Amino acid sequence: MITLPPELAKRYEKEAALELEFDEDTQSGRAAAAGSSAQSGPAAEQKAPEAPPLEVDLRVRIGSLTLANPITTASGTFAAGREFNDLIDITRLGALTTKGVSATAWKGNSGRRLAETASGVLNSIGLQNPGVKHFIRYDLPWLQEHAPDLPVIVNVCGHRISDYTTVIERLEEAGGVAAYELNISCPNVDCGGMAMGVDPAAAAEVTTACRAFSLRPLIVKLTPNVTDITEVARAVEAAGADAVSLINTILGMAIDARSRKLVFKRGVAGLSGPAIKPVALRMVYEVAHAVKIPIIGMGGVATGTDVAEFMLAGATAVALGTANFDNPCATTDALDELTRYCQEQGVAKVTKLTGAVRPAS
Ligand SMILES: Cc1cc2nc3c(=O)[nH]c(=O)nc-3n(C[C@H](O)[C@H](O)[C@H](O)COP(=O)(O)O)c2cc1C
Repeated sequence: MITLPPELAKRYEKEAALELEFDEDTQSGRAAAAGSSAQSGPAAEQKAPEAPPLEVDLRVRIGSLTLANPITTASGTFAAGREFNDLIDITRLGALTTKGVSATAWKGNSGRRLAETASGVLNSIGLQNPGVKHFIRYDLPWLQEHAPDLPVIVNVCGHRISDYTTVIERLEEAGGVAAYELNISCPNVDCGGMAMGVDPAAAAEVTTACRAFSLRPLIVKLTPNVTDITEVARAVEAAGADAVSLINTILGMAIDARSRKLVFKRGVAGLSGPAIKPVALRMVYEVAHAVKIPIIGMGGVATGTDVAEFMLAGATAVALGTANFDNPCATTDALDELTRYCQEQGVAKVTKLTGAVRPAS
């Protein structure tokens, strides 16, 4: 046995006592103390057993579709899940929302396609995708094999109404899709996309046309690049949309001071990421007060706390987009954090968060 000099022994005794105090104050400390000999004896035996963490019901409904939890992916930032599946368990998502799928293959925009900004990214992808046939042949079977119970929301894009209905028609024949999200809000194409999304009548027209092709939930994705987003939300609700999702990217621009040139060939590009979160929150709040159908909120969401904020503003489900580029585990990390948030706040059903924000005091 080693005999410590009295001064050192005294110091060690003091530090051990302090550690014990810390242990009793913290949850992790409590777990550690349970196995330590310092806790044995009558005092430790009398300690009340710790209450198990609150079991949280995370289920939400989007029309007729029930999601195991409110978290999904924002279209175009997660492809069809294949690349992310090595990094996270995609079956933990409430739903997977795919990259935009068009009737035929689209090449996308030429020139620079992505530029980082101080708090997010500008993109000008132009909805490049290999088309619905490819999606049915390669992506759907992969999803069915690797995540058979995961609801797949297919984001549909087109230049004209018949493009949208063709994609839905093909996918209805193929099966395996849980819901459709109509992208009428992409700022990166010259024809279709946002042109329909800024006009309530045109937005209603494409919604009505697609409604006729499927009974599955129809989600219409709204653009923030309008004066009043609630007008378009009301128009698509009246035309039969089961839900709305918002926001798509905000029109922006980048200039290279040295070359004195526009960075993107189309001049404009779509801004996403943390910079747009306050705008997205405001729009979700406004739309939640304008329509009765559920809202899938997105725009700068990166954490479980962000998800809770969007739900409090009025969203039923929430999508993470640009955050996946920064942290490929952002969706499952957010799910874990949202669960902890609900436990801490005593929220047994996550649906209780939707629209529950109160005025500032
Ligand atoms: C690289 C990139 C590609 C995107 N592609 C699509 C798309 O195909 N269809 C669509 O509806 N939205 C698309 N979006 C928009 C996102 O789905 C989302 O609405 C937007 O980025 C805001 O969310 P975030 O800030 O979490 O990224 C894309 C966004 C990015 C950054």
